[in-house]
Amino acid sequence: MDELESDKHVKYILSIEKKKDDVEALLMEHLRINGAYWGLTTLDILHKISAVDPEEVISWVMKCYHEDCGGFGGNIGHDPHLLYTLSAVQILALFDRIDVLDAEKVSIYVAGLQNEDGSFSGDMWGEIDTRFSYCAICCLSILHCLNKINVEKAVNYIVSCKNLDGGFGCTPGGESHAGQIFCCIGALAITGSLHHVDRDLLGWWLCERQCKNGGLNGRPEKDADVCYSWWVLSSLIMIDRVHWIDKDKLTRFILNCQDKENGGISDKPNYAVDVFHTYFGVAGLSLMEYPGLKSIDPAYALPVDVADW
Ligand code: FPP
Ligand code: ZN
Repeated sequence: MDELESDKHVKYILSIEKKKDDVEALLMEHLRINGAYWGLTTLDILHKISAVDPEEVISWVMKCYHEDCGGFGGNIGHDPHLLYTLSAVQILALFDRIDVLDAEKVSIYVAGLQNEDGSFSGDMWGEIDTRFSYCAICCLSILHCLNKINVEKAVNYIVSCKNLDGGFGCTPGGESHAGQIFCCIGALAITGSLHHVDRDLLGWWLCERQCKNGGLNGRPEKDADVCYSWWVLSSLIMIDRVHWIDKDKLTRFILNCQDKENGGISDKPNYAVDVFHTYFGVAGLSLMEYPGLKSIDPAYALPVDVADW
Protein backbone atom coordinates (compact mmCIF):
# COMPACT_ATOMS: atom_id res chain seq x y z
CA MET A 1 0.00 0.00 0.00
CA ASP A 2 1.09 3.64 -0.57
CA GLU A 3 2.34 5.50 2.50
CA LEU A 4 1.37 8.94 3.76
CA GLU A 5 3.94 11.42 2.39
CA SER A 6 3.91 13.53 5.57
CA ASP A 7 7.05 15.58 4.89
CA LYS A 8 5.89 16.49 1.40
CA HIS A 9 2.47 17.57 2.69
CA VAL A 10 4.14 19.79 5.30
CA LYS A 11 6.27 21.41 2.58
CA TYR A 12 3.21 21.87 0.36
CA ILE A 13 1.24 23.63 3.12
CA LEU A 14 4.16 25.88 4.05
CA SER A 15 4.62 26.80 0.38
CA ILE A 16 1.03 28.06 -0.08
CA GLU A 17 1.70 31.08 2.09
CA LYS A 18 4.66 32.07 -0.11
CA LYS A 19 3.11 31.89 -3.58
CA LYS A 20 0.51 34.56 -2.97
CA ASP A 21 -0.18 35.39 -6.60
CA ASP A 22 -1.02 32.03 -8.15
CA VAL A 23 -4.53 30.91 -9.02
CA GLU A 24 -5.21 28.96 -5.84
CA ALA A 25 -4.19 31.92 -3.67
CA LEU A 26 -6.41 34.16 -5.78
CA LEU A 27 -9.44 31.88 -5.43
CA MET A 28 -8.82 31.68 -1.72
CA GLU A 29 -8.48 35.41 -1.18
CA HIS A 30 -11.98 35.86 0.30
CA LEU A 31 -11.75 32.86 2.62
CA ARG A 32 -8.12 33.06 3.58
CA ILE A 33 -8.80 32.58 7.29
CA ASN A 34 -10.57 29.28 6.54
CA GLY A 35 -7.56 28.17 4.47
CA ALA A 36 -5.25 29.15 7.33
CA TYR A 37 -7.31 27.06 9.76
CA TRP A 38 -7.28 24.00 7.47
CA GLY A 39 -3.54 24.32 6.77
CA LEU A 40 -2.49 24.93 10.38
CA THR A 41 -4.67 22.12 11.73
CA THR A 42 -3.13 19.75 9.18
CA LEU A 43 0.38 20.82 10.26
CA ASP A 44 -0.58 20.16 13.89
CA ILE A 45 -1.95 16.66 13.09
CA LEU A 46 1.39 16.00 11.35
CA HIS A 47 3.26 17.26 14.49
CA LYS A 48 4.71 20.23 12.56
CA ILE A 49 2.86 23.28 13.88
CA SER A 50 6.24 24.45 15.24
CA ALA A 51 7.23 25.26 11.63
CA VAL A 52 5.16 28.47 11.81
CA ASP A 53 5.68 31.54 13.97
CA PRO A 54 2.65 31.78 16.32
CA GLU A 55 3.03 35.55 16.80
CA GLU A 56 2.91 36.15 13.06
CA VAL A 57 -0.25 34.05 12.68
CA ILE A 58 -1.99 35.57 15.71
CA SER A 59 -1.24 39.14 14.69
CA TRP A 60 -2.62 38.45 11.16
CA VAL A 61 -5.76 36.76 12.60
CA MET A 62 -6.39 39.77 14.84
CA LYS A 63 -6.15 42.08 11.81
CA CYS A 64 -9.25 40.28 10.48
CA TYR A 65 -11.15 41.18 13.67
CA HIS A 66 -13.89 43.85 13.62
CA GLU A 67 -13.66 45.60 16.94
CA ASP A 68 -16.96 47.42 16.36
CA CYS A 69 -19.07 44.24 16.19
CA GLY A 70 -16.92 41.38 17.56
CA GLY A 71 -16.87 39.24 14.38
CA PHE A 72 -14.02 38.18 12.06
CA GLY A 73 -13.71 38.61 8.29
CA GLY A 74 -12.17 36.10 5.88
CA ASN A 75 -9.19 38.40 5.31
CA ILE A 76 -8.01 41.86 6.31
CA GLY A 77 -10.75 44.41 5.45
CA HIS A 78 -13.38 41.78 4.59
CA ASP A 79 -16.86 41.69 6.16
CA PRO A 80 -17.45 39.61 9.30
CA HIS A 81 -19.20 36.23 9.04
CA LEU A 82 -19.77 33.25 11.34
CA LEU A 83 -17.73 30.94 9.07
CA TYR A 84 -14.65 33.15 9.51
CA THR A 85 -15.28 33.83 13.18
CA LEU A 86 -15.18 30.10 13.91
CA SER A 87 -11.93 29.66 11.95
CA ALA A 88 -10.34 32.57 13.83
CA VAL A 89 -11.32 31.11 17.20
CA GLN A 90 -10.12 27.64 16.15
CA ILE A 91 -6.73 29.03 15.04
CA LEU A 92 -6.31 30.86 18.37
CA ALA A 93 -7.26 27.63 20.20
CA LEU A 94 -4.62 25.71 18.22
CA PHE A 95 -1.98 28.06 19.64
CA ASP A 96 -3.63 28.11 23.06
CA ARG A 97 -4.08 31.88 22.72
CA ILE A 98 -7.82 32.39 23.20
CA ASP A 99 -6.71 34.94 25.83
CA VAL A 100 -5.97 37.55 23.11
CA LEU A 101 -9.73 37.73 22.45
CA ASP A 102 -12.46 39.67 24.16
CA ALA A 103 -14.51 36.45 24.48
CA GLU A 104 -17.51 38.38 25.78
CA LYS A 105 -17.61 40.61 22.71
CA VAL A 106 -17.09 37.77 20.21
CA SER A 107 -19.80 35.71 21.88
CA ILE A 108 -22.25 38.64 21.79
CA TYR A 109 -21.60 38.88 18.01
CA VAL A 110 -22.31 35.15 17.58
CA ALA A 111 -25.37 35.14 19.85
CA GLY A 112 -26.76 38.18 17.98
CA LEU A 113 -27.08 36.02 14.86
CA GLN A 114 -29.55 33.60 16.49
CA ASN A 115 -33.11 33.95 15.14
CA GLU A 116 -36.42 33.58 16.95
CA ASP A 117 -36.87 29.96 15.71
CA GLY A 118 -33.45 28.99 17.13
CA SER A 119 -31.66 28.96 13.72
CA PHE A 120 -28.56 31.07 12.94
CA SER A 121 -27.89 33.54 10.15
CA GLY A 122 -24.30 33.54 8.81
CA ASP A 123 -24.01 37.32 8.98
CA MET A 124 -26.08 40.50 9.00
CA TRP A 125 -27.52 39.66 5.53
CA GLY A 126 -29.46 36.82 7.03
CA GLU A 127 -28.84 33.57 5.07
CA ILE A 128 -29.90 30.69 7.33
CA ASP A 129 -28.23 27.26 7.24
CA THR A 130 -27.43 24.49 9.76
CA ARG A 131 -23.76 25.14 8.87
CA PHE A 132 -24.13 28.39 10.80
CA SER A 133 -25.76 26.61 13.76
CA TYR A 134 -22.61 24.47 13.96
CA CYS A 135 -20.26 27.46 13.60
CA ALA A 136 -22.07 29.32 16.39
CA ILE A 137 -22.26 26.37 18.78
CA CYS A 138 -18.67 25.20 18.22
CA CYS A 139 -17.32 28.74 18.55
CA LEU A 140 -19.30 29.53 21.74
CA SER A 141 -18.34 26.19 23.28
CA ILE A 142 -14.62 26.89 22.71
CA LEU A 143 -15.16 30.32 24.32
CA HIS A 144 -17.14 28.74 27.21
CA CYS A 145 -20.03 31.06 26.35
CA LEU A 146 -22.84 28.69 25.26
CA ASN A 147 -25.01 30.31 27.92
CA LYS A 148 -25.27 33.39 25.65
CA ILE A 149 -27.71 31.61 23.30
CA ASN A 150 -30.94 29.69 23.65
CA VAL A 151 -29.42 26.19 23.33
CA GLU A 152 -32.78 24.43 23.54
CA LYS A 153 -34.17 26.41 20.59
CA ALA A 154 -30.93 25.93 18.65
CA VAL A 155 -31.18 22.15 19.16
CA ASN A 156 -34.87 22.08 18.22
CA TYR A 157 -34.15 23.94 14.98
CA ILE A 158 -31.43 21.40 14.05
CA VAL A 159 -33.81 18.54 14.86
CA SER A 160 -36.41 20.18 12.57
CA CYS A 161 -33.89 19.73 9.71
CA LYS A 162 -33.81 15.94 10.20
CA ASN A 163 -35.16 13.85 7.30
CA LEU A 164 -36.94 10.50 7.10
CA ASP A 165 -33.69 8.86 5.83
CA GLY A 166 -32.05 9.78 9.16
CA GLY A 167 -29.87 12.52 7.61
CA PHE A 168 -30.02 16.32 7.90
CA GLY A 169 -30.27 19.20 5.43
CA CYS A 170 -29.41 22.91 5.48
CA THR A 171 -32.97 24.04 6.37
CA PRO A 172 -36.19 22.13 7.19
CA GLY A 173 -37.04 19.89 4.21
CA GLY A 174 -33.56 20.29 2.66
CA GLU A 175 -31.99 17.17 1.12
CA SER A 176 -29.68 15.09 3.34
CA HIS A 177 -26.03 15.88 2.61
CA ALA A 178 -22.97 14.52 4.46
CA GLY A 179 -21.48 18.00 5.04
CA GLN A 180 -24.72 19.18 6.58
CA ILE A 181 -24.94 15.99 8.65
CA PHE A 182 -21.49 16.71 10.10
CA CYS A 183 -22.69 20.19 11.12
CA CYS A 184 -25.89 18.92 12.75
CA ILE A 185 -24.31 15.93 14.49
CA GLY A 186 -21.33 18.05 15.63
CA ALA A 187 -23.65 20.69 17.10
CA LEU A 188 -25.82 18.04 18.78
CA ALA A 189 -22.70 16.29 20.16
CA ILE A 190 -21.29 19.52 21.61
CA THR A 191 -24.61 20.35 23.28
CA GLY A 192 -25.09 16.78 24.60
CA SER A 193 -28.20 16.28 22.45
CA LEU A 194 -27.40 13.15 20.41
CA HIS A 195 -30.43 11.38 21.88
CA HIS A 196 -32.42 13.11 19.11
CA VAL A 197 -30.62 10.94 16.53
CA ASP A 198 -31.62 7.47 15.31
CA ARG A 199 -28.03 6.14 15.24
CA ASP A 200 -28.76 2.97 13.26
CA LEU A 201 -30.80 4.75 10.60
CA LEU A 202 -28.27 7.58 10.16
CA GLY A 203 -25.32 5.15 10.43
CA TRP A 204 -26.82 3.11 7.60
CA TRP A 205 -27.22 6.20 5.35
CA LEU A 206 -23.65 7.29 6.14
CA CYS A 207 -21.98 3.92 5.56
CA GLU A 208 -23.80 3.61 2.23
CA ARG A 209 -21.66 6.56 1.14
CA GLN A 210 -18.71 4.19 0.60
CA CYS A 211 -18.20 3.60 -3.14
CA LYS A 212 -16.63 0.64 -4.97
CA ASN A 213 -13.24 2.42 -5.11
CA GLY A 214 -13.26 2.70 -1.29
CA GLY A 215 -13.83 6.47 -1.20
CA LEU A 216 -16.92 8.15 0.29
CA ASN A 217 -19.44 10.38 -1.48
CA GLY A 218 -21.64 13.08 0.05
CA ARG A 219 -25.02 12.00 -1.37
CA PRO A 220 -26.39 9.00 -3.29
CA GLU A 221 -25.23 8.74 -6.95
CA LYS A 222 -22.31 11.19 -6.49
CA ASP A 223 -18.61 10.40 -7.02
CA ALA A 224 -16.32 9.66 -4.09
CA ASP A 225 -14.36 12.70 -2.92
CA VAL A 226 -11.65 12.88 -0.23
CA CYS A 227 -13.50 15.61 1.72
CA TYR A 228 -16.26 13.16 2.62
CA SER A 229 -13.66 11.07 4.45
CA TRP A 230 -13.96 13.87 7.00
CA TRP A 231 -17.68 14.77 6.88
CA VAL A 232 -18.86 11.13 6.91
CA LEU A 233 -16.26 9.53 9.20
CA SER A 234 -16.47 12.23 11.87
CA SER A 235 -20.27 11.83 11.91
CA LEU A 236 -20.02 8.03 12.13
CA ILE A 237 -17.59 8.33 15.05
CA MET A 238 -19.89 10.72 16.92
CA ILE A 239 -22.78 8.24 16.62
CA ASP A 240 -20.51 5.28 17.35
CA ARG A 241 -20.98 3.47 14.01
CA VAL A 242 -17.55 3.93 12.38
CA HIS A 243 -16.98 0.15 12.30
CA TRP A 244 -19.60 0.01 9.52
CA ILE A 245 -17.02 1.42 7.05
CA ASP A 246 -14.23 -0.56 5.35
CA LYS A 247 -11.29 1.44 6.75
CA ASP A 248 -8.60 -0.30 4.68
CA LYS A 249 -10.31 0.53 1.41
CA LEU A 250 -10.89 4.14 2.44
CA THR A 251 -7.27 4.51 3.60
CA ARG A 252 -6.09 3.27 0.19
CA PHE A 253 -8.40 5.71 -1.61
CA ILE A 254 -7.06 8.69 0.36
CA LEU A 255 -3.42 7.69 -0.07
CA ASN A 256 -4.05 7.29 -3.79
CA CYS A 257 -5.16 10.95 -4.00
CA GLN A 258 -1.75 12.24 -2.83
CA ASP A 259 0.59 14.16 -5.10
CA LYS A 260 3.55 11.97 -4.26
CA GLU A 261 6.04 14.36 -5.86
CA ASN A 262 5.05 17.83 -4.67
CA GLY A 263 2.80 17.02 -1.71
CA GLY A 264 -0.85 17.86 -1.11
CA ILE A 265 -3.98 15.74 -1.51
CA SER A 266 -6.69 16.16 -4.17
CA ASP A 267 -10.42 15.41 -4.09
CA LYS A 268 -10.09 12.48 -6.53
CA PRO A 269 -7.14 10.42 -7.84
CA ASN A 270 -4.94 12.42 -10.26
CA TYR A 271 -6.77 15.75 -9.77
CA ALA A 272 -5.11 19.01 -8.65
CA VAL A 273 -4.32 19.23 -4.92
CA ASP A 274 -5.59 21.98 -2.59
CA VAL A 275 -5.24 22.80 1.09
CA PHE A 276 -8.85 21.79 1.94
CA HIS A 277 -8.57 18.26 0.59
CA THR A 278 -5.10 17.94 2.12
CA TYR A 279 -6.75 18.61 5.50
CA PHE A 280 -9.71 16.29 4.79
CA GLY A 281 -7.37 13.47 3.73
CA VAL A 282 -4.96 13.80 6.65
CA ALA A 283 -7.79 14.35 9.16
CA GLY A 284 -9.67 11.35 7.73
CA LEU A 285 -6.58 9.19 8.21
CA SER A 286 -6.24 10.53 11.75
CA LEU A 287 -9.87 9.54 12.48
CA MET A 288 -8.94 6.03 11.28
CA GLU A 289 -5.92 6.02 13.63
CA TYR A 290 -3.31 6.00 10.87
CA PRO A 291 0.11 5.57 12.59
CA GLY A 292 2.09 8.66 13.58
CA LEU A 293 -0.76 11.20 13.42
CA LYS A 294 -2.24 13.25 16.26
CA SER A 295 -5.86 12.32 16.91
CA ILE A 296 -8.47 14.85 15.95
CA ASP A 297 -11.71 15.56 17.78
CA PRO A 298 -14.63 14.74 15.44
CA ALA A 299 -16.94 17.45 16.85
CA TYR A 300 -14.56 20.40 17.32
CA ALA A 301 -12.37 19.58 14.29
CA LEU A 302 -9.29 20.34 16.38
CA PRO A 303 -6.53 18.01 17.61
CA VAL A 304 -7.72 16.22 20.75
CA ASP A 305 -4.97 17.75 22.91
CA VAL A 306 -6.31 21.19 21.91
CA ALA A 307 -9.99 20.31 22.31
CA ASP A 308 -9.29 18.78 25.73
CA TRP A 309 -8.42 22.12 27.39
C1 FPP B 1 -19.91 20.26 1.70
O1 FPP B 1 -19.39 21.24 0.92
C2 FPP B 1 -19.73 20.61 3.13
C3 FPP B 1 -20.63 21.20 3.95
C4 FPP B 1 -21.96 21.59 3.48
C5 FPP B 1 -20.30 21.45 5.40
C6 FPP B 1 -19.55 22.73 5.60
C7 FPP B 1 -19.29 22.97 7.07
C8 FPP B 1 -18.72 24.07 7.55
C9 FPP B 1 -18.29 25.15 6.62
C10 FPP B 1 -18.54 24.23 9.04
C11 FPP B 1 -17.10 24.33 9.48
C12 FPP B 1 -16.44 23.01 9.39
C13 FPP B 1 -15.40 22.57 10.15
C14 FPP B 1 -14.85 21.20 9.94
C15 FPP B 1 -14.75 23.37 11.22
P1 FPP B 1 -19.50 21.34 -0.69
O2 FPP B 1 -20.18 22.62 -0.99
O3 FPP B 1 -18.12 21.14 -1.23
O4 FPP B 1 -20.45 20.12 -1.12
P2 FPP B 1 -20.59 19.43 -2.53
O5 FPP B 1 -19.57 18.30 -2.54
O6 FPP B 1 -22.00 18.92 -2.56
O7 FPP B 1 -20.27 20.47 -3.57
ZN1 ZN C 1 -14.42 17.67 -1.92
